[in-house]
Amino acid sequence: MPEERPARADRPYAFETRAVHAGASPDPTTGARNVPIYQTTSYVFDDVDHAASLFNLQDFGYIYTRIGNPTVSALEERVAALEGGRGAVAAASGHAAQLLAFFTIMEPGDEFVASRNLYGGSITQFSQTFRKFGWKVTFVDPTDPENFRRAITPRTKAIFLEVLANPGGIVVDIEPVAAIARDAGILLMVDNTMASPWLFRPFEWGADIVIHSTTKFLSGHGTSMGGVVIESGRFDWARNAERYPSLTRPDPAYHGLTFAETFGDFGYSMKTRAVGLRDLGPTMAPMNAFMTLTGIETLHLRMERHCANALKVARFLADHPAVAWVSYVGLESSPFHGLARKYLARGFGSVFTIGVKGGFAAGVKLVENVELFSHLANIGDTRSLVIHPASTTHRQLSEEQQIKAGAGPDVLRLSIGIENADDLIHDLDRALAAV
Ligand SMILES: Cc1ncc(COP(=O)(O)O)c(C=O)c1O
Repeated sequence: MPEERPARADRPYAFETRAVHAGASPDPTTGARNVPIYQTTSYVFDDVDHAASLFNLQDFGYIYTRIGNPTVSALEERVAALEGGRGAVAAASGHAAQLLAFFTIMEPGDEFVASRNLYGGSITQFSQTFRKFGWKVTFVDPTDPENFRRAITPRTKAIFLEVLANPGGIVVDIEPVAAIARDAGILLMVDNTMASPWLFRPFEWGADIVIHSTTKFLSGHGTSMGGVVIESGRFDWARNAERYPSLTRPDPAYHGLTFAETFGDFGYSMKTRAVGLRDLGPTMAPMNAFMTLTGIETLHLRMERHCANALKVARFLADHPAVAWVSYVGLESSPFHGLARKYLARGFGSVFTIGVKGGFAAGVKLVENVELFSHLANIGDTRSLVIHPASTTHRQLSEEQQIKAGAGPDVLRLSIGIENADDLIHDLDRALAAV
């Protein structure tokens, strides 16, 4: 569905204003100021002709919540407005959003090139599960942008990367990678979960598709799973028609409608919704859309505190005798600090890794002795979080594999929350004394 950008005729609204207002006007029937939770599966048609026009995609409106829901639409519009995109489709989780994003463009036998520095779950999804659809991923070291070019083949449909990568410590130089994608006539997809649009907006650097796990900073309070796929509206499908038949050839499931031709700069979103959501069904629940909308209203405030706290905590840990190393792009000592300054003008994120002296046993001791930090597998909560990957998420791997994955026995991942920084430092100091 085309998204309306909230802007008065005389002045486009700034990020903070869009975070609070985009996609949400008072309910025309009741006057409710907050977006209602439209807890309904389906919508009554005016008459048979109205129903037919909706099913034929000749008219915009709601049919069935698997394909669209007013609360979810408000969220889609808000996220598109924050990223500067043309259209968006929400999904049940970040992983569901990734599945939809690729499903819209991939055929069996197609390929994509991905940065090897991604959230571990994305690496597994791409390399193990996507293989069952006949989709092939080639992982490359993103620190040399030319690696992406070298991996492109005639079947490559996209480049996928995280600019600020989970679990942190790396910033990918997106500008030359965008040029490589443009030269090759393929999509550049960016998972912007770790930065959020407050810190970084991939469309401004040449991305075509942005994906979020809204589970993290966007919803922000550790309450609601969700994901979203956003399109820039600037990709030239007609120029690359041969590579993207799913957008540029008639779709037999819609009486021969051609999505790129019919819907132009929001054709990708329409196809993602009308075919991907309709047939795969990973829909975001209205309640989760409501929680995420509410979370986004404070995104800019939370991110400022997340980043300020993370920098203070990282500096404290870098000087601590029980800590072997700190990998945070906000520290001047990070080899990625220059790129972080180039791309992340407002802060360096709040997720990073450290190594504790004493290896596995020390890592376990630390998570057992923190009080304020919660030991769990998530990031981007208001609360501070910690995990010891070698004893949890990466425990099935050999020590050699763990080290290769950046999850060696001494590694801890921290997600710094918005509490008082001195309290967080005190908590870590106490736990490190026990180590
Ligand atoms: C960077 C990144 N992308 C994607 C995901 C997957 O999102 P979800 O857990 O909402 O499916 C995660 C989850 O941790 C993540 O950190």
